[in-house]
Amino acid sequence: MTTVIPVFVFVAATLMLSSFERYGNKNFGVQGNPKGLKDYYINFFPIGVAIAPNNLEGDQAELIKQNFNSLTAENVMKPALIHPEENRYSWENAERIVKFAQENGMKVRGHTLCWHNQTAAWMFKDSLGNQVSRDLALARLKDHIITVVSHFKGKVYAWDVLNEAVVDDKAIDKIFRESNWYRICGEEYIPKVFQWAHEADPDAILFYNDYNTEDPVKRDKIYNLLKRLLEQHVPVHGVGLQGHWNINGPSERNIREAIEKFSSLGLKVQITELDVSVITSGADTVKTYTPEREQKQADFYKMAFGVFREKKNVITGVTFWNVSDRRSWLDRPDRKSFPLLFDVNLKPKKAFTEVVRF
Ligand code: G3I
Repeated sequence: MTTVIPVFVFVAATLMLSSFERYGNKNFGVQGNPKGLKDYYINFFPIGVAIAPNNLEGDQAELIKQNFNSLTAENVMKPALIHPEENRYSWENAERIVKFAQENGMKVRGHTLCWHNQTAAWMFKDSLGNQVSRDLALARLKDHIITVVSHFKGKVYAWDVLNEAVVDDKAIDKIFRESNWYRICGEEYIPKVFQWAHEADPDAILFYNDYNTEDPVKRDKIYNLLKRLLEQHVPVHGVGLQGHWNINGPSERNIREAIEKFSSLGLKVQITELDVSVITSGADTVKTYTPEREQKQADFYKMAFGVFREKKNVITGVTFWNVSDRRSWLDRPDRKSFPLLFDVNLKPKKAFTEVVRF
């Protein structure tokens, strides 16, 4: 007994010290251990975060500098925000993000050039207020892409050129989302958006970006589309798996298979919008962040990052969608989803510990 107690005290003190050494006072966002997520992953891939310009102030800015080495604009580079009127581009907010990235040695991913959502209504209306012709739609899309990509040439290293163009429908012969772009232009706009982006910045890495990419049916539709584009020598270089997941799925197997399948085309893979909600469906009635859900979330993140590390030869970036549980796009007035690695006080969560423990 007399020898057991000192040994126990010694082991406990050593464990406490080493955990203090790793995590400081556990207050990552503000002070403490200078080692952030990006440092743990320095030999794997950049770790990014999607932000709004107002995240670049105060404690959130400190957390971002400490943990991330890549930024994505959550909204302000999207067509409706950066090109609100035909003859007016609005660069200021996007430029703030680019400037912050440059000052802090971070990369910038551009998001996004062509999407069915957050595109201003004027793009699809002619001077009489009628739906634009196919030719006018393509001319406007070209002007938009060339102008935006040229503006950020040399500052934005990768672009989500085309976002969510494939439909979720289980029917295997239904491939394209019935977006305005598809209805007005047909399939023809798809190779063109990549060609225009490439023309404007030949050094930019060009991505197709989508969600539910782990679902085998949607995965294969996207795979077939990308295969055809590559056979036609369309400049597409990577595929973005958004990674809007929850604690129940997708499975490890489906994540791994999606990465393997897309990379078999010679494409790079990025996880572009990662979050793991503790709410598992619209019908989920649990509104609080229970210890059980917190643990399941930590286990899920551990599994996912295990796969990412295993696939580090093809994964060239992992980006979280929002900074902390203080604000997520998933939040509703009556419900929070707690999907990120930092809590509402910007403290690292159990999931953080699992992501950096390897
Ligand atoms: O800009 C207005 C603001 O003026 C107004 O006061 C406020 C009131 O609600 O709304 C603001 O616009 C909101 C915008 O985010 C900026 O906060 C829109 O209502 C809201 O719909 C919009 O949501 C964004 C969503 O895309 C739009 O579909 C989310 O922030 C953004 O996280 C989300 O991101 C998408 C990716 O781009 C693509 N993949 C899916 C992902 C999640 O939906």
